Amino acid sequence: MTAPGRVILTPFIDAAAIQRRVLELADAIAKDVQSGELLVAGVLKGGFVFTADLVRVLNRLGIHVRIDFLRVSSYGSGTVSSGTPVLSGDLSEKLNGRRVLLVDDIVDTGRTSRFVHDRIMERRPAWLRTCVLLDKPRRRVVPFDADYIGFRVPDAFIVGYGLDYDNQYRDLPELSVIRFADRDPEPPFSFRVEGGTVLFKGHLDAKAAEDAGDTLLRWHGDLELDLAGMQGADRDGMNFLSRLRESLSEKGFTLSIRGLKRTLQETRQEYHKC
Ligand code: IMP
Ligand code: MG
Repeated sequence: MTAPGRVILTPFIDAAAIQRRVLELADAIAKDVQSGELLVAGVLKGGFVFTADLVRVLNRLGIHVRIDFLRVSSYGSGTVSSGTPVLSGDLSEKLNGRRVLLVDDIVDTGRTSRFVHDRIMERRPAWLRTCVLLDKPRRRVVPFDADYIGFRVPDAFIVGYGLDYDNQYRDLPELSVIRFADRDPEPPFSFRVEGGTVLFKGHLDAKAAEDAGDTLLRWHGDLELDLAGMQGADRDGMNFLSRLRESLSEKGFTLSIRGLKRTLQETRQEYHKC
């Protein structure tokens, strides 16, 4: 497939935020595993960076693993799944009676994860959990719930940190959204995560709130919102901000907000109720 026009990469989740989340995931996994043997099964190619980082943090937490890889192909060279996953490289370890942690880059339609999970279950492991860096819940065609999820993300095509477009960009240390100048217009709203700060850009309305909600309403940790690049917000946008504050405080985290612009004056009153 030829790329439709100039490629635009927009930073989405930076390396620091990824590393923070990898630490939290490893911590949750370590608590569940406690001790004993664990076989980490990474899914190639997309899961290679995430698997490498995760096992090294697990090691620091005292969980020493064995590592194996399998390879599944489901995408051609584009951004649309061909739909049929194929096991193009198998694990070399036996799974019978063992504890297995499957590690992959992303659950999109769910077809690949479902397929891999079911193939592994046939081999009767004693315990099987799935850990994915990204989850696009709104794209699901086949039901699948991962046990450990790094970030829930909106329906955009994401590259970097192992994820590719046409086998490129896997080496980027951060996650970016890819779009093509001729085909995909600049979205009216976007946000990016830098460490514990989220920077909003554009107009925060219901659609924007829904997009941001996938990632932020599930956030673990304190969060700072930088609204300097935000052009405005309507009532739905304001409601979203208050829901975000509630959801974080329920989990014991705080939300602080900076960079409120003059353009938000009209909604300020509602805003202060957040
Ligand atoms: P699924 O079978 O539709 O869930 O797709 C899973 C596979 O599609 C992943 O392992 C990725 O290789 C690829 N994929 C899905 N969405 C993205 C994306 O946003 N960026 C890069 N690869 C993706
Ligand atoms: Mg993949």
